[in-house]
Amino acid sequence: EKCPVILGIETSCDETAAAVVARDEAGAPTILSNVVYSQIDDHAAFGGVVPEISARAHAEALDGIVTAALDEAGVTLSEVSAVAATAGPGLIGGLIVGSVMAKAIAHARGIPFLAVNHLEGHALTPRLTDGLAYPYLMLLVSGGHTQILLVRGLGDYERWGTTIDDALGEAFDKTAKLLGLGHPGGPMVERAAEDGDPKRFSFPRPMLREARLDFSFSGLKTSVRQAAEKNAPVSRQDVSDLAASFQAACADTIADRMDRAFARFRDMLPEIAAPTIAVAGGVAANQTIRHALETAARDAGFTLVAPPFRLCTDNGAMIAYAGLERFEAKMSDPLDTPVRSRWPL
Ligand code: KG4
Ligand code: ZN
Repeated sequence: EKCPVILGIETSCDETAAAVVARDEAGAPTILSNVVYSQIDDHAAFGGVVPEISARAHAEALDGIVTAALDEAGVTLSEVSAVAATAGPGLIGGLIVGSVMAKAIAHARGIPFLAVNHLEGHALTPRLTDGLAYPYLMLLVSGGHTQILLVRGLGDYERWGTTIDDALGEAFDKTAKLLGLGHPGGPMVERAAEDGDPKRFSFPRPMLREARLDFSFSGLKTSVRQAAEKNAPVSRQDVSDLAASFQAACADTIADRMDRAFARFRDMLPEIAAPTIAVAGGVAANQTIRHALETAARDAGFTLVAPPFRLCTDNGAMIAYAGLERFEAKMSDPLDTPVRSRWPL
């Protein structure tokens, strides 16, 4: 039987992305191409992603991005075994653009269409990059999601924790905005924090010592605003101290929640010899957060797997790979499958 070749399309937020992923003869997944067009510049003037602008940008860019992904991979549409597209969760306009494109190709070529959950794409990425075996723990920290997942198998995910208000990346973005640091906020806050004092402000560590694995970041953001107002007009040093103290609170919260997750994973699966935690999402780039995670994992005897940054953030390869696993499991989705702005794993 010939090796499957999957085209994957991702348009759920502000990246227009397409990729080709195949299973090689030795059984390893290979990324033949991974093309990402970031809309960040289109939204910069607005301080955040504007849904209508995003949908239009996807519609304009996607055709060229898909062609580029096929060209770079050196494959023609007639060699593609199936087409996968993100069908949710995300911004509805972009989701429609991506899935309509995938359905049209699938229909024209007579090949399967696969409606992929964006979170499944993130969750399976460590299998694409590191060949991780099921089961493993996953921490997803992006602009839209903050989740602790138990990845048991394909389509078999347990959400152990989620945010009850803002996502962690969103908290970074909002904090950056209120400190006047620009968009996207994460890297700006991290840079400002470099010469800041993380102990100057003692911001709340929400739900510390609670048994549940959920997160809350909106109170933290409010505390940063209040501290900034109290110290107005804020100097550059004040901004750095606020950023550093905010980041420290985030890192402590992540470490606390992961500690609990590690303990729960161990209790559940005493036979697992090499417990693993994988991380994904844009916030995983943050050195302070990553360091806290590394330390917590090491102390608990877990191995941390962190895929390369361009595969941690939104991309088409993760959707193509999730499509590959689904295709190999003989799954496919009808062409009238709807997109869903909300779609829990
Ligand atoms: O995974 P991602 O690229 O897109 C999705 O949201 O799906 O994540 C983007 C988020 C943004 O909120 C951005 O501010 C945050 O990741 N981010 C960071 C850093 N780099 C990106 N947050 C903290 N520190 C960073 N270095
Ligand atoms: Zn994402």
